[in-house]
Amino acid sequence: MILATAAVLSACTANHQKVLVLYYSQTGATKAVAERIASELGADIEAFDVENPYDGDFQQTIQRCMEEQQSNALSPLKALESNISDYDVIFLGYPVWFGVAARPVFSLVNEVKFEGKKIVPFCTFGSGGLESSSDNLKELLPDAEFIEGYGVRNARIAKAPAEIEKFLVKAGFKDGEVEELPEFSECRDVAEADQAVFNAACGSYEMPLGEPVAVSERAVPGGKEYLFTTAALDMAGQPVQTTIYVLAPDGGTPEFTKVVR
Ligand SMILES: Cc1cc2nc3c(=O)[nH]c(=O)nc-3n(C[C@H](O)[C@H](O)[C@H](O)COP(=O)(O)O)c2cc1C
Repeated sequence: MILATAAVLSACTANHQKVLVLYYSQTGATKAVAERIASELGADIEAFDVENPYDGDFQQTIQRCMEEQQSNALSPLKALESNISDYDVIFLGYPVWFGVAARPVFSLVNEVKFEGKKIVPFCTFGSGGLESSSDNLKELLPDAEFIEGYGVRNARIAKAPAEIEKFLVKAGFKDGEVEELPEFSECRDVAEADQAVFNAACGSYEMPLGEPVAVSERAVPGGKEYLFTTAALDMAGQPVQTTIYVLAPDGGTPEFTKVVR
């Protein structure tokens, strides 16, 4: 359903671009982010879906995706209510599934033209996938102009509103000021104190995130941000390195914000 958000008469940003927030969400996390972006911008918003929705549980969805990936099957898109050609900017939202956008996004980009549009990807995920899913979408939509997007772990969804506001200001969609952050320090070996931060942030995550082998850090408002490099073996037994961002608020529990593979 298309909804014009309250108290805003036109779906325009400060620089008069018409914005649509178009999203898919299976379990509600991406919906929450989409609604926040739309209300921040006073943009139109539409949830899209496919004709044969993914309404099974987690395991059923995983199973269906794997089968569809093997057979290259895509459910047809349910017709959109919005007319994409009416908009300059599309905020395209989705959960990350297997490192790329959820399958309904593939149905969308297969069937709808986005040539010449500015696309701002945004996503939610268990551990990460903004970078890999955005790169994949850029390949699928070579005639669209991509703007660096926003992603948040579903476990940190409560932190999203403040992050979204900063993201929209930084990307030029909202007026305001965002503090420039310092560069990360030089990479160093992992000391005992770093290991304790890593364990507190990542130790209880349900999937193995590897062992930290190097770290750098920087000051951020209200705490420190760490950049850990971890080493692990992939499913084929090959060594892989992963980058994990950890936020350690002063006096609070560290949490990882994203894993970049
Ligand atoms: C089929 C499937 C595959 C997933 N793959 C990933 C993944 O590769 N990486 C990740 O961090 N999270 C993954 N997740 C977790 C979802 O991205 C996460 O739960 C998301 O916030 C769900 O968003 P939604 O509530 O809007 O549907 C996967 C979930 C499902 C159902």
